[in-house]
Amino acid sequence: MTTMVHDDLLHPDVIADPYTYFQYLRDTDPVHWNHLWNGWVLTRYDDVAAAFQDPRLSADRITPSLNRLSPGKLEERRTIYTVLSKWMAFNDPPIHTRLRMLMNKAFTPKAISRLEPRIGEIADQLLTQLDSKTQVDVVSEFAYLVPVLVIADLLGIPVDDRDLIKGWSDDLMLLVFGAVDVSDRHARAEKGLQEMHAYLSQMIEDRREHPKDDLLSSIAAASEGEDVLTTDEAVAMCTLLLFAGHETTTNLIANGVLTLLRNPAELARLRQDASLLPSAVEEILRFEGPSKSLIRIAKESFELRGKSIQEGQRVLLVQAAANRDGEQFDHPNRFDVARSPNSHLGFGRGIHYCLGAPLARLEGEIAIGRLIARFASMHLGETEVQWQPTLINRSLKQLLVQVHA
Ligand code: HEM
Repeated sequence: MTTMVHDDLLHPDVIADPYTYFQYLRDTDPVHWNHLWNGWVLTRYDDVAAAFQDPRLSADRITPSLNRLSPGKLEERRTIYTVLSKWMAFNDPPIHTRLRMLMNKAFTPKAISRLEPRIGEIADQLLTQLDSKTQVDVVSEFAYLVPVLVIADLLGIPVDDRDLIKGWSDDLMLLVFGAVDVSDRHARAEKGLQEMHAYLSQMIEDRREHPKDDLLSSIAAASEGEDVLTTDEAVAMCTLLLFAGHETTTNLIANGVLTLLRNPAELARLRQDASLLPSAVEEILRFEGPSKSLIRIAKESFELRGKSIQEGQRVLLVQAAANRDGEQFDHPNRFDVARSPNSHLGFGRGIHYCLGAPLARLEGEIAIGRLIARFASMHLGETEVQWQPTLINRSLKQLLVQVHA
């Protein structure tokens, strides 16, 4: 690879295998200035873990991109910015603290654990539809469908409206995950969000008057003393949950199946002992996790490993590199479904640690567990595995698998 290739985070070689490239950076230049991306790239476990908890690094990457837009463009993308700027994921304290506290009340572990039988039903229904097939695209026919059905169920979205939600959420994902190969991604995200905003505002207003036993009602009623969520904030919260819980969990399931098929001895171990499912899911999050990297903005200038990070510069926290750091993990490039300890950074760390981690884990365990139980024999199809060309997430385009019950 040439130096330029090394700086192209979207180069096909880096998209196909980010681990070799990031290992090179971790070994040679762990706090690397990337000229093409125009920001710092952190690849060591200790640095990435510390950066997640560093108050000098801001999670607000919406304001800087807003400031770069012309008034015309700003108007065209009004809904996108109105909604995204209210996401707790893109806010620092004290706004983040307030939103997270209000949400913690609605998104309780009890509400999540109640979902276990329903997730099983959803997975089984989808698998039954695949019974007569000999080849399955695990992404589009299974992994993609489980999370959206589960989150729609949890929120209390009527069954007939789920295709609408799926469509809007897809349009938004093009933008947030930076799908560089889709030219009209801003226009599609804006239109999708306008429609989703109108739909969800109506639902929230409705639940305020007629509460039900669902997450939409808890969000509509979320309060802390005198403090309550406005309708706009409640809608933004729902869009964040729909969005944050969708593609990430799809990728956990699909990346997990791919990794198990590439490591048949580990798949056999899991088939023999289903009690390994929780640790297998943790290992998938470490080894081929859905969240490849996250962006922060320096709020002030500071030194790191002798490099001067300036106020306003972008910093990329590369979880895919940290999770393969030999200083933290024994045999980091070995996939081990029983790995322990496994303190990976797949869900981030610190105040923004994934709110939906318990749900994602439960979905991953149930979906992967049911899939391998249903098909006694599974083999990778002939076509080469292709990944989406994005900076932030590790996402398969499709995953063709030959199956036999
Ligand atoms: C395997 C699936 C998932 C992965 C890998 C994942 C990963 C992450 C990561 C890395 C963060 C930290 C972001 C940051 O520090 O900037 C995060 C935050 C978040 N996640 Fe997840 N996530 C997953 C599933 C879910 C699900 C199912 C939900 C909810 C339904 C969810 C909701 C959230 C929310 C609301 C935040 C923002 C938390 C905050 O800013 O305080 N995630 N997620």
